[in-house]
Amino acid sequence: MASSMSKPKIFVARQIFPEGLERLRAIAEVDYNDQSVPLSPVDLSLRLAHVDGALVTGSEKIDAQTLSQAHRLKIVSNIAVGFNNFDIQLLTEKNILATNTPEVLTDTTADMGFLLLMAAARRLSEGEHWLRAGHWQNWSLGGMMGMDIHHSTIGVMGMGRIGQAIAKRALAFGMTVIYYNRRQLPKEIEKECQATYVTKEELLKTADHVMLVMPYVPENHHFIGEKELALMKSTATLVNIARGGIVDENALIHALKNQIIFSAGLDVYEGEPNIHPGLLEVPNIVLAPHIGSATQKTRLAMMHLAIDNLIAGLNHQQPPNLINTDLWK
Ligand code: GLV
Repeated sequence: MASSMSKPKIFVARQIFPEGLERLRAIAEVDYNDQSVPLSPVDLSLRLAHVDGALVTGSEKIDAQTLSQAHRLKIVSNIAVGFNNFDIQLLTEKNILATNTPEVLTDTTADMGFLLLMAAARRLSEGEHWLRAGHWQNWSLGGMMGMDIHHSTIGVMGMGRIGQAIAKRALAFGMTVIYYNRRQLPKEIEKECQATYVTKEELLKTADHVMLVMPYVPENHHFIGEKELALMKSTATLVNIARGGIVDENALIHALKNQIIFSAGLDVYEGEPNIHPGLLEVPNIVLAPHIGSATQKTRLAMMHLAIDNLIAGLNHQQPPNLINTDLWK
């Protein structure tokens, strides 16, 4: 780390808000990539080679290639709660602290889950495209019918902070909440969310709507594929606000085209920002450009929290949201 005499050097991998840059420039020498386009892995590795700390987003892959020359790097701070862009094992081996931004985005992201669920189940996007294209001639009794959200059963896959916040919203809609998680939650939390633990299979078969909020880890790759979609109700909506890769997009496109499920809402994609062309062709899907946490208040809070983490690490203090806590023991 930097000596007390000299300012630490940090790299900011993407454009951030001016107040964040000001905070960083007050304490460090800042190499700033003021672009909203991610650097190539080669360029990223060169920029990481000479710094003590880095502020990155989920689009920067922090792995063997990008860390290959990062010999003085002590902390990488992610402006995101998900950290599947980090090779945590490697960072820990290299004694590099890794941090993320939980909590500040929980409610905003839970709102997004509900937004996608309601928009997809009620065909909002499809209806708007149809209206804009000038097709609307008459109100009709059987026109643009969707599926109910209120008093239905929601199945939450991944019952962490965001999953629990979704469950609480669901209760206000009179919904029944079932959930699947790697581990069953403590009874107090189940009670607070009025949520019942079920198996993955039971959830898929029973839920009127399925919400994916689990972290992306290799075991969750294509966690929802052809077999899982076939278990779901033909009236169900599937929402993914977690990560691309959890859903097999080819299988989803097939299921939507063949009415195996009713509709879907996606905020995340397997190859984002490149979208599978098949997704653009199906009408019964709502597509958002990874904006789960994108409100002015929340994105600012995420930036500040990521900076708090970075500064703590550079000051030899335990960052509030340290991921590889082993390094602190
Ligand atoms: C966004 O996807 C995040 O992980 O914060």
